[in-house]
Amino acid sequence: MTKPLIEVKNLKKTFRTRGGELVALQNINLRIMPGEVVAVIGSSGSGKSTLLRCMNLLITPTEGQVYFDGEVIFNSEAPVDINLDAVRKNIGMVFQAFNLFMHLTVKNNIHLALKRVLNLPDEGIQHRINDVLETVNLSDKLNSYPGELSGGQQQRVAIARVLAMRPKLIFFDEPTSALDPELTGEVLEVMKRLVTEYQYTLVVVSHEIPFAREVANRVVFMDEAEILYEGGPDTLVNPPNERLKKFLSKILSTR
Ligand SMILES: Nc1ncnc2c1ncn2[C@@H]1O[C@H](COP(=O)(O)OP(=O)(O)OP(=O)(O)O)[C@@H](O)[C@H]1O
Ligand SMILES: [Mg+2]
Repeated sequence: MTKPLIEVKNLKKTFRTRGGELVALQNINLRIMPGEVVAVIGSSGSGKSTLLRCMNLLITPTEGQVYFDGEVIFNSEAPVDINLDAVRKNIGMVFQAFNLFMHLTVKNNIHLALKRVLNLPDEGIQHRINDVLETVNLSDKLNSYPGELSGGQQQRVAIARVLAMRPKLIFFDEPTSALDPELTGEVLEVMKRLVTEYQYTLVVVSHEIPFAREVANRVVFMDEAEILYEGGPDTLVNPPNERLKKFLSKILSTR
């Protein structure tokens, strides 16, 4: 039987705030199978980013277990001896803000990431850089600086930088919400290509509903720190849940 790439059991995350304790996630159980594309939607503050960050251990969950590729990588009940770098290298993450180094060329942005994380020899690195820039259609921007690129192109460089690590799956946290609509399309196009041509496993937090309908196998709706509903992409056409229905009509009316 195929094992999940990521599995989360009984996850809870609380933050200490001035007002006391804030529950950002609770009762979270989720499995991401190889080859799946999972769209995570839900209103602001519902816990979407916190979920991604707990799954790749960018932040430490308060309770529960996280498994990566069949191995436990976090257990609140017993310390786990793992190589965090090895886990992170296999879980790429693309953020809303592209987080590129503005003083480095496209090539050197990717080069630095590869050198730091993988310590590959220079020839291997060059080959990978050419490869990933081709995937995101930016081969001609090898020597450009991020400031010379559009927002959509910068985000595609950020995606290329993640692809260069050859991760087993990629998390996207609102990758297009800082972009104008005309630039959003080109980034979504590249993401779609990762699925159709490269069979990447993706978890995408995004409110691009047409994209989710077309590309996702599964939709996860978060509400008030919990997964309120999980279903196929048809869920977005005929929402079987009142709160999901309300949420969808709200985001569709703001577009
Ligand atoms: N580092 C932190 N310290 C305290 N509270 C936090 C922290 N990070 C997140 N939170 C809180 O946890 C809750 C969930 O936040 P999260 O960023 O996961 O929401 P989200 O669904 O990604 O929202 P958005 O759509 O606005 O990005 C929110 O109430 C937020 O204020
Ligand atoms: Mg968020």
